[in-house]
Amino acid sequence: MAEIETAEIETLDARQLSAQDARAIAELLVKVWPKLEKPVEVRERQMRELGQGYSGPDIQAPRSFVIRENGIVIAHAAFVTRTILVGSQELTIAGLTRVCTDPSKRGMGLGEKIVRPVLDLVDQGVFDFSYFQTTPQVVPFYERLAAVLTTNRVVNSLAVDPRAYPFWDELQMRYPADRPWPEGVIDLRGPGF
Ligand SMILES: CC(C)(COP(=O)(O)OP(=O)(O)OC[C@H]1O[C@@H](n2cnc3c(N)ncnc32)[C@H](O)[C@@H]1OP(=O)(O)O)[C@@H](O)C(=O)NCCC(=O)NCCS
Repeated sequence: MAEIETAEIETLDARQLSAQDARAIAELLVKVWPKLEKPVEVRERQMRELGQGYSGPDIQAPRSFVIRENGIVIAHAAFVTRTILVGSQELTIAGLTRVCTDPSKRGMGLGEKIVRPVLDLVDQGVFDFSYFQTTPQVVPFYERLAAVLTTNRVVNSLAVDPRAYPFWDELQMRYPADRPWPEGVIDLRGPGF
């Protein structure tokens, strides 16, 4: 327990994630979201692809945050960087993704610990908001961190079907709750994350 309380958060640059780190994160992802079509090799490749193609400033570069115990990743959060359109307003967001804690380590504050660095970047003004999909079970966790549900319709104008819902979880949230958020359709201008 003491080890976990003092656990160090490592920051990994998603643009140059090593094969070893991608694998270590992928091992946790398959444990948390076991899917036949996404064995560890697929998760590893997807982790390595997460930051590829990003060409913006270093300060906004996509990152992963991890906590390890005995070399094994027990908590992870990543963000992608997107300039999305919300109504008629462009907003640069940290798109939280792959937030998870090892099932045997939940309820110890690790989830909050690995999400906090992303929210800190918003507080520091590096991003306008954090914006992400989620499930009803996890909403209270994010509400406690001062995020709030959003109800804007979401599309990806670059998709084959530009009117289709680009996420897979049913809900979306933004952080912070207390800053004005535009009405209107959200265009992710890229695939769901
Ligand atoms: C969400 C998640 C990362 C939280 O991790 P954690 O290390 O347990 O987080 P914390 O210890 O900081 O906070 C725990 C709180 O989150 C809440 N919570 C979060 N997810 C929950 C879930 N799926 N079921 C029940 N409670 C959940 C609990 O109420 C808990 O509050 P409590 O301590 O008062 O009981 C973890 O539950 C998880 O990996 N879930 C599965 C993957 C997932 O759904 N990720 C989010 C994708 S948007």
